[in-house]
Amino acid sequence: MSKQLLINDLDKPGIQSFSGYKANGGYSALEKSLKMKPEEIVEEVKKSGLRGRGGAGFPTGMKWSFIAKPPGVPRYLVCNADESEPGTFKDRFLMEKKPHLLVEGMIISSFALGANTSYLYIRGEMMYVYHILEKAIQECYDAGLLGKNILGSGYDLDLYVHCGAGAYICGEETGLIESLEGKRGNPRIKPPFPAIKGVWQCPTVVNNVETLAAVVPIINMTGDEYAKIGIGKSTGTKLISASGHINKPGVYEIELGVPVEEFIYSDKYCGGILNGKKLKAVVAGGSSVPILPAELILKTAKGEPRLISYESLSDGGFVTGTMLGSGGFIVMDEDTSIVKNLWNFTRFYHHESCGQCSPCREGTGWMEKILHKFIEGHATMKDIDLLWDIQGKIEGKTICPLGEAAAWPVAAAIRHFRSEFEEYVKNGKKMVDVKHYYRINKLQEA
Ligand SMILES: Cc1cc2nc3c(=O)[nH]c(=O)nc-3n(C[C@H](O)[C@H](O)[C@H](O)COP(=O)(O)O)c2cc1C
Repeated sequence: MSKQLLINDLDKPGIQSFSGYKANGGYSALEKSLKMKPEEIVEEVKKSGLRGRGGAGFPTGMKWSFIAKPPGVPRYLVCNADESEPGTFKDRFLMEKKPHLLVEGMIISSFALGANTSYLYIRGEMMYVYHILEKAIQECYDAGLLGKNILGSGYDLDLYVHCGAGAYICGEETGLIESLEGKRGNPRIKPPFPAIKGVWQCPTVVNNVETLAAVVPIINMTGDEYAKIGIGKSTGTKLISASGHINKPGVYEIELGVPVEEFIYSDKYCGGILNGKKLKAVVAGGSSVPILPAELILKTAKGEPRLISYESLSDGGFVTGTMLGSGGFIVMDEDTSIVKNLWNFTRFYHHESCGQCSPCREGTGWMEKILHKFIEGHATMKDIDLLWDIQGKIEGKTICPLGEAAAWPVAAAIRHFRSEFEEYVKNGKKMVDVKHYYRINKLQEA
C-alpha cells in the first residue's frame, strides 16, 4: 500500500490557506514540537532516516547535529527553494499547493536548531509562489505561530522570504548564502561548511523544501514509524516530477521503492509512453544525473528490477547505474536524439556556470561548442574522444558540484549511446533536422 504524507490532501477545500490547513490537522506537529526539547526533535529526525531531498541525499538528522553552538552566536535555518535543475519542479508544486506544510516544517526545524531567524530562498522566476508564501507567513504571524513567544512557548522566530534573481548556481548552498547576503552567488570554498560558518559567518543549516516539509509527518507519526515507510535506507516518501514522453506528466508522491517500470507504465503514475512508442532512455534525478538506456533503467545490470530508491538507482555506480538526485524524472521515447538533448543540457550548464573555476567556466563552453558541431553535422570521431576528455577534466576539479553536474551527463551519454554520436559523425549533414536548426538559430539571435 503506497503512502502519501506530503500531498495527500490537496483535494481538501482551502488547504492552501491557514484555516483550511489547520482544519485538516495542520500545525498539530508544531504544537507537539514546542512541548519537546529541541534535541528530542533532532533525535526523531535521525530515527526517521530522512535524507536530504535536494539531490545529495545526506541524512538530515546527522546534518542538524553538526551545527556549531558557540554561546551568544545566532544560528540560522535556510530553506533552499531555488529549484532550477532542469526536469525538477516538485518544490514549486508543494509550495504552491500546500505552503503551510513548508512553513510548519520550517518553524519546527528552526526550533530544533535553535534558530531565531530563518530564510526561505526562492528562485526569482517563481514570483507567484513568493506571494503565496508571503501570505502564508503573514497568516502565521497573525495567528501567533511566528514572531515573539510562539504559542506561549517562549520561543521567538522571524521568517523571511528572499527572492533570488534566477541563477541555477544560487541553488548550491554556499552560492545561495552569498546571494542571500546580497553578493554575487559564487560558491564558497569548503571547509568551513555552513554548519560552522554559513549565513553572516554564523552556524547555518541549508535544507531543501521537501526535506523540511517531511519533518511535519515525522513529528506527527514519530521517526520510528516514518522509518517503516520506504525501502532499506531509503525511508519515507519522495516527490517525483515526471516529464517527457509520458501520458501523464506531473508531480507524484511515491513511497520509496516503487519499481521504475511500474512508475513509467502504470496508470497510477506516468501512464506509459506517449503514442505507444518505445522507451529509449530516462534521466531519473534531474538533468545532472547520468542518463540510462531503457534496459538499465528498468533492470539493474544484475537483472533485478530497478526501484526508485537511493540504493537501487545507484546500483552499478556510474557504469550501469545513476542517482535519485532531486527526483526530476525525464522520460525519452525511441525518437529522441540523445546528442541533441545533451547539447541542450550542456548549453544550460555553460550558461549557468558562475565562472569562478576555469575547468567549469571553460570546459562547459567547449563541450557546448563541440556538441554543436554534432548538431550541425560536421563533427569528427575525434570529437567524441575530446568530449570525453574534457568532461573528465571538469569532474572533481571545481569548488562546487556544478562541475560534476555538467560532466556526468556528457560521460553517461557517451558511455551508453556512443553509437549515436558516431552516427552523427558518419551521416554528417543528413542528421541535421532543419526545423530544429531554424529554432536554434532563432534562439541564438534572441
Ligand atoms: C549547482 C547546484 C544547484 C543546486 N540546486 C539546488 C536546489 O535548487 N535546491 C536544493 O534543495 N538543492 C540544490 N542543490 C544542493 C544544495 O547545495 C544542498 O545540498 C541542498 O540544498 C541541501 O538540502 P538537503 O540536505 O535537504 O537536500 C544544488 C547544488 C548544486 C551544486
